[in-house]
Amino acid sequence: MAKKDFVLSVEDLTVSFDGFKAVDGLNLYVDRNEVRVVIGPNGAGKTTVLDLISGKTRATSGSINFKGLELTKMSEHMIVRAGIGRKFQTPSIYENLTTYENLEVSFPRGRSVFGAIAFRRTADVDERVRQIAEEVFLTEMLDQTAELLSHGQKQWLEIGMLLMQDPELMLLDEPVAGMSVSEREKTAELLSRVAKNRSVVVIEHDMEFVKNIAHRVTVLHQGKVLAEGSMEAVQSNPKVIEVYLGH
Ligand SMILES: Nc1ncnc2c1ncn2[C@@H]1O[C@H](COP(=O)(O)OP(=O)(O)OP(=O)(O)O)[C@@H](O)[C@H]1O
Ligand SMILES: [Mg+2]
Repeated sequence: MAKKDFVLSVEDLTVSFDGFKAVDGLNLYVDRNEVRVVIGPNGAGKTTVLDLISGKTRATSGSINFKGLELTKMSEHMIVRAGIGRKFQTPSIYENLTTYENLEVSFPRGRSVFGAIAFRRTADVDERVRQIAEEVFLTEMLDQTAELLSHGQKQWLEIGMLLMQDPELMLLDEPVAGMSVSEREKTAELLSRVAKNRSVVVIEHDMEFVKNIAHRVTVLHQGKVLAEGSMEAVQSNPKVIEVYLGH
């Protein structure tokens, strides 16, 4: 298939750390409006793949194509501007700001905290903040200082901060880690909703959650794709059971 059919095409991607290949000849193709879940044992290279896509880590070789842009040649900042939002394994929110302010500073125009002090709170930003807060279940928490939010609410806030930038591709590293069962269900519903007009790549260990959200699943092992397909196909794959699901 031609590259242009995919929002993201990763081809023959490799990164070596002192000779150790954390990602090794990886190919990954993500469709528009797809929720792709990446699973695999600890140290498989999952987070490193997101580091490479988001420009945090430089590839040793290979290509990452996003809507015709070669990301391996772009800075982290340019990659965000191109439409990729990334959530890390631990929430990175501004603890001292309110929920409202965290969302407000994430609006592309007022990205830095310092810039936000100067920039006027326009009606469209206010509307967007409230709309996103509703999407991530935080309407009641808008005036609350972020440090007082629960762990799950902090994770939602960070997703909300990404949504403020309206990214075409969202990269989420273990978004439901530490969440209760009901929070996980709400997050699954949230991700299905936001994926209606964007693509999402999610790293996750919780198989119940993966089953709920994944259109397709990619299993990584030692920096390579071990298996890929529907959750059912992957779950019944003997190689996947051996290296991951059997544990
Ligand atoms: N900057 C780095 N320098 C050296 N080694 C690294 C670096 N980043 C990752 N690694 C190594 O690459 C391998 C893959 O790490 P990675 O964090 O991508 O795994 P993961 O699949 O996300 O695991 P987990 O499920 O535990 O989060 C590990 O062996 C890790 O120690
Ligand atoms: Mg990881």
